[in-house]
Amino acid sequence: MQNYYTSKVILITGGAQGIGRGMAQAFSRVGAQVILTDLDPEAGEDALTWLDSQYLKADFLPCDVSKKEQVKGIMQQIEQKYGQLDVLINNAGIASPARKPLAELPVAEFDQVLSVNLRGPFLCAKYALPLLEKTLHPAILNITSTRAFMSEPDTFGYSASKGGLEALTHSLAVSLGPKVRVNAISPGWIETGLWQKEGRKTEPHHSQEDKDQHPVGRVGTPEDIAEAALFLCSDKAGFITGQSLVIDGGMTVKMIYHE
Ligand SMILES: NC(=O)c1ccc[n+]([C@@H]2O[C@H](COP(=O)([O-])OP(=O)(O)OC[C@H]3O[C@@H](n4cnc5c(N)ncnc54)[C@H](O)[C@@H]3O)[C@@H](O)[C@H]2O)c1
Repeated sequence: MQNYYTSKVILITGGAQGIGRGMAQAFSRVGAQVILTDLDPEAGEDALTWLDSQYLKADFLPCDVSKKEQVKGIMQQIEQKYGQLDVLINNAGIASPARKPLAELPVAEFDQVLSVNLRGPFLCAKYALPLLEKTLHPAILNITSTRAFMSEPDTFGYSASKGGLEALTHSLAVSLGPKVRVNAISPGWIETGLWQKEGRKTEPHHSQEDKDQHPVGRVGTPEDIAEAALFLCSDKAGFITGQSLVIDGGMTVKMIYHE
């Protein structure tokens, strides 16, 4: 991977914290030019300082991915500075502020989740496309969720948005091929407490029951997602498009009976 990524430009949305921060570290380690974009400028600066402390470099561009003009703006800045984009990772995502029964859920909250989690990736793909098409093996990676396929009660917007993003993945793959490959990673429970900005960091604590829900015996980490992202966005995955890789430690294949 080291040689493959040294001349590549990678944009990671929501890259300042959590899984996005983990992917920024991984792509930067293999020599890629990483650009983070995030709604939270303080988290963006914190991420750059954190990467710098490991002798890793990245750029930060503030942006709300649900806003068309802001997305167009960062693509213009990338064009001016780098002239191309090799990989777009649509990672930015939000859950509803609180789970609410259907009757009590404000329509605006449902719309907001769809706007970030589904409209955002659509806008980023649309306005990144001219830059992606300038490169040899461009790729888009969408970060969905196992909640696209199964739900807890009262998670309407999040589940619907992630199901939509799964469908957008194959729709983009058949539309943008053969030039651009488009895949998804569908994470399960990923612990991101230590991957947040200062002041938002939390020390992970998982009970034995939490661990036992996973056939691999533990909760996931941002590194688990980043390793697969490195592969899926490289030409080693050149025959893979329109696919979604579930990375959940086996949680969604485990049946649970209470007798
Ligand atoms: N952590 C998990 O267990 C888990 C599981 C399944 C899927 N996911 C998905 O992975 C992705 C990352 O999740 P995470 O847990 O790392 O979240 P996180 O909250 O730790 O990080 C998300 C980042 O996205 C940024 N962001 C939020 N709204 C934005 C917007 N409108 N524009 C730009 N940036 C925005 C936030 O500021 C934050 O820095 C999300 O799409 C999430 O749905 C996470």
